[in-house]
Amino acid sequence: MTDAIQLERERGLLTLRLNRPDKKNALTRAMYSCLAEALKQADSDPEINAVLITGSSECFTAGNDIADFIQQPPSNLDSPVFDFMLNLLECRKPVIAAVAGAAVGIGTTLLLHCDLVYISRDARLRMPFVNLGLCPEFASSLILPRLLGHAKAAELLLLGEGFSGEQAAAWGIATEALGNGEAALAKAREMALRFESLPTEAVCISKQLMKAPDRELIRKVIEEEGLLFTQRLRSPEAMAALSGFINRH
Ligand code: COA
Repeated sequence: MTDAIQLERERGLLTLRLNRPDKKNALTRAMYSCLAEALKQADSDPEINAVLITGSSECFTAGNDIADFIQQPPSNLDSPVFDFMLNLLECRKPVIAAVAGAAVGIGTTLLLHCDLVYISRDARLRMPFVNLGLCPEFASSLILPRLLGHAKAAELLLLGEGFSGEQAAAWGIATEALGNGEAALAKAREMALRFESLPTEAVCISKQLMKAPDRELIRKVIEEEGLLFTQRLRSPEAMAALSGFINRH
């Protein structure tokens, strides 16, 4: 367990709040393990109808902790980041995200696996994998070209261009863009609590049906990307870029 993830229970809703403000909610191995465990428990707890993932009204997450990437890089599909993302992928219950401020790297990628995403219009999303000498992860190389077309997805994944919450909603990455972080969180909470008045099994089965056609393909792509990503982390290109971030001051 770590204080950097706060678990809050409100009736049938479990909120997972990223809470590491001094490091812009950058995700450590301990945080991934805690998120994975919470998702597992939520899925098996009959009292929980939905899970909400959020940060603060200023920042969702700056992505994977870069010092962790250097000191303890994920080495295989059993690493905590895979445990978290595979539990997110397999979660039977609806997962809702409320996003404001920066959502970088896995902070953007994870949204592709949530069911509902409410985001502030001025949120800043970015997947700077190539810029860091890395490559796309968790099926973003499959999902984004399908969603946006190759040409637009290439701008995001081959150049690492950033985009806004408003664009994310227009492109179908987010459900709705709202005026600010508080509004995004309020809307996400309101919609997440709606699952309480819906028949839980019907919701779970419907989600499963929506995910089923691509399930095997997505898992295969995640494995292929994961192998390359873990190799890239040890490459001279990535080591130089990641150390550059750490030593930038
Ligand atoms: N890992 C580790 N530490 C991080 C981090 C990350 N991914 N992102 C930010 N931090 C730390 C900074 O080092 C800084 O720590 P310090 O105060 O001890 O020096 C602190 O968080 C604040 O970050 P700062 O960059 O000063 O905030 P900002 O508001 O100017 O910018 C971001 C916020 C998120 C845009 C910027 O921090 C950023 O681009 N981070 C890197 C994100 C990234 O490349 N992630 C991808 C991983 S694949």
